[in-house]
Amino acid sequence: MTLTTRLLTPETWDDFAVLVEANNGVWGGCWCMGFHPEAFSAGSPEGNREAKQRHVVNGTVHQVLVYDGDRCVGWCQFGPPAELPNIKNRAAYDKGVEDPPDWRIGCIFTNAKDRGRGVAAAAVAAALDEIKRAGGGVVEAYPEQTEERPPQRGAYLHTGPEELYARFGFVRVRKTAKWRWVMRATL
Ligand SMILES: CC(C)(COP(=O)(O)OP(=O)(O)OC[C@H]1O[C@@H](n2cnc3c(N)ncnc32)[C@H](O)[C@@H]1OP(=O)(O)O)[C@@H](O)C(=O)NCCC(=O)NCCS
Repeated sequence: MTLTTRLLTPETWDDFAVLVEANNGVWGGCWCMGFHPEAFSAGSPEGNREAKQRHVVNGTVHQVLVYDGDRCVGWCQFGPPAELPNIKNRAAYDKGVEDPPDWRIGCIFTNAKDRGRGVAAAAVAAALDEIKRAGGGVVEAYPEQTEERPPQRGAYLHTGPEELYARFGFVRVRKTAKWRWVMRATL
């Protein structure tokens, strides 16, 4: 499969919508809103969809789409902390925070039928390229440790597995949950 990437913009919105709808709205209708400032305050899948589209139209998000040909097969979200305040285990994170990062990578999603083929890796590579283009800095991700625990289905790895970030040079900084790490790279 030859993968390409594009940013999620009003022009590519329909491709993203097809991906989400093919996967039951992602987690039954979250529309990947969890990390945004208003999170799920819309209270319904339709509301989440509208909220996400509003962000895209207003340019208040940074998101990458991955394509196999003209089929959108993956998505990844990145941005400065103010754009993505609702990271997982936020209370534990806040206790240990010293210098905030310049950027964070939030949730990541690959079409259920296209997993294990490098889609997430292509998404993170493209997000990191965009971050470099925007001046770089300290980038954080919040992936899950998969070693030393039973095999995890991709479905539960919302923020990606640690291996995904390790391959781009991210290193562990501290834990925020039993299996979740803050990892950092400097670009
Ligand atoms: C986690 C997820 C993003 C991985 O996507 P993917 O396209 O299958 O990942 P890739 O094929 O690019 O693999 C990248 C790396 O992660 C590792 N990896 C992927 N899935 C893994 C798993 N289930 N367990 C352990 N490692 C895994 C791969 O081995 C690879 O490591 P390597 O670079 O050392 O070879 C995908 O399973 C997914 O979308 N899950 C659902 C998450 C979700 O619901 N997100 C939205 C929440 S709102």
